[in-house]
Amino acid sequence: MKKTQVFLTIFMFHFCVSKGQLQVGYYSETCPNVESIVNSIVSEAAQSDPRVAPFLLRLHFHDCFVEGCDGSILINDAKVTNPEIGAFGHQGVGGFEQIEKAKQDLEVQCPGIVSCADIVALAARDAVVLVGGPFYDVETGRKDGLVSNQTLADDMPDVNDSIDILKSKFLNKGLTEKELVLLSGAHTIGTTACFFMPKRLYNFTGRNDSDPRINPNFLPVLKRHCPKDGDVNVRIPLDAVTNEEFDDQILRNIKNGTAVIASDARLYDDDITRQVVDSYVDESSEFMSLFSFEQDFTVAMVKMGRIGVKTKSNGEIRRVCGSFN
Ligand code: HEM
Ligand SMILES: *[C@@H]1O[C@H](CO)[C@@H](O)[C@H](O)[C@H]1NC(C)=O
Ligand SMILES: *[C@@H]1O[C@H](CO)[C@@H](O)[C@H](O)[C@H]1NC(C)=O
Ligand SMILES: *[C@@H]1O[C@H](CO)[C@@H](O)[C@H](O)[C@H]1NC(C)=O
Ligand SMILES: *[C@@H]1O[C@H](CO)[C@@H](O)[C@H](O)[C@H]1NC(C)=O
Ligand SMILES: *[C@@H]1O[C@H](CO)[C@@H](O)[C@H](O)[C@H]1NC(C)=O
Repeated sequence: MKKTQVFLTIFMFHFCVSKGQLQVGYYSETCPNVESIVNSIVSEAAQSDPRVAPFLLRLHFHDCFVEGCDGSILINDAKVTNPEIGAFGHQGVGGFEQIEKAKQDLEVQCPGIVSCADIVALAARDAVVLVGGPFYDVETGRKDGLVSNQTLADDMPDVNDSIDILKSKFLNKGLTEKELVLLSGAHTIGTTACFFMPKRLYNFTGRNDSDPRINPNFLPVLKRHCPKDGDVNVRIPLDAVTNEEFDDQILRNIKNGTAVIASDARLYDDDITRQVVDSYVDESSEFMSLFSFEQDFTVAMVKMGRIGVKTKSNGEIRRVCGSFN
């Protein structure tokens, strides 16, 4: 091999590794219709069920935070013992039928080409757009993971976590305090089960008290929706004002003490995350952001989509999203 060839080989190797093989339009030659196929499944399902868009957005987060964005959360196969999906932290996730349906269509058009992890990432973007959120280009080229283990989901961010724990769990995934706030902004859509509320409303510090971060005018409203010892399966909007629409209202709620779940309220406990919230919704903030919440949210989503991406050596393209090949 000539010297220049050796140099080129090394250069190309570094280039590919540092780019982590993700790129916008990764399937443009091999499966040019991938985005429209995923989009049509997501749009159709979201039209008949308002839960679909929030499910799909949340699914991408829960996939990326355990073992990286690799479809590990999708494994649902009796042959796998203790798959990740059984983890406490994944309670209430959904959207699996739409991912599997898109996969089926894709296996007809371009068999063996598109990873389930990429379908999840594309579906999350389409979900955001369908509820009035910003469009962004989704990088693709992820491989599906070969591991799905319940134990690995133990450190999912929890609704009860303090702001310090939330910050460190995001930092562990390479995400900043700013990205913690932006991504939590996904709670501008969707609902929570009352299951996640009792501690916040009735026993916050173990003394039959409620979270002092709750606006006193809002506390009776929340208590009425989720009464003590009431049905934990009752669902209430995460954004009490504009729950159907993707907007910055959730950040305004956090500022006003009208966030619904505790982890959103915690974003106002800390100087840095409070300044980030204010930078989008408080005109008098000295740190007013140049960009809107919606714009910065898309950048944070792209970054989240790069967590722990698998390559050919530790991943595959699944034939069915719920099972390893
Ligand atoms: C900061 C850490 C986070 C915590 C502790 C957290 C916690 C929760 C909880 C407890 C629920 C209610 C689940 C249910 O009752 O079914 C929920 C729902 C949701 N989460 Fe998060 N979340 C976090 C971050 C995120 C991120 C980063 C995203 C996406 C980028 C996201 C997207 C959603 C969506 C869309 C819903 C609504 C789901 C539905 O309507 O079924 N969350 N989250
Ligand atoms: C799951 O992961 C844990 C922690 O890494 C490990 O101890 C356990 O053996 C794994 N379980 C399976 C079934 O691989
Ligand atoms: C939150 O903490 C309470 C009490 O500390 C516990 O009963 C509950 O299961 C926790 N909820 C979640 C979702 O972790
Ligand atoms: C309130 O929380 C404390 C401490 O976490 C716990 O010991 C107690 O059992 C809880 N009370 C109720 C009524 O759940
Ligand atoms: C909290 O309320 C429960 C019953 O709702 C009561 O048994 C308990 O003594 C109270 N605990 C405190 C610390 O007030
Ligand atoms: C703040 O919350 C209170 C109580 O729910 C509500 O009446 C008020 O309109 C809210 N203010 C803003 C600026 O959102």
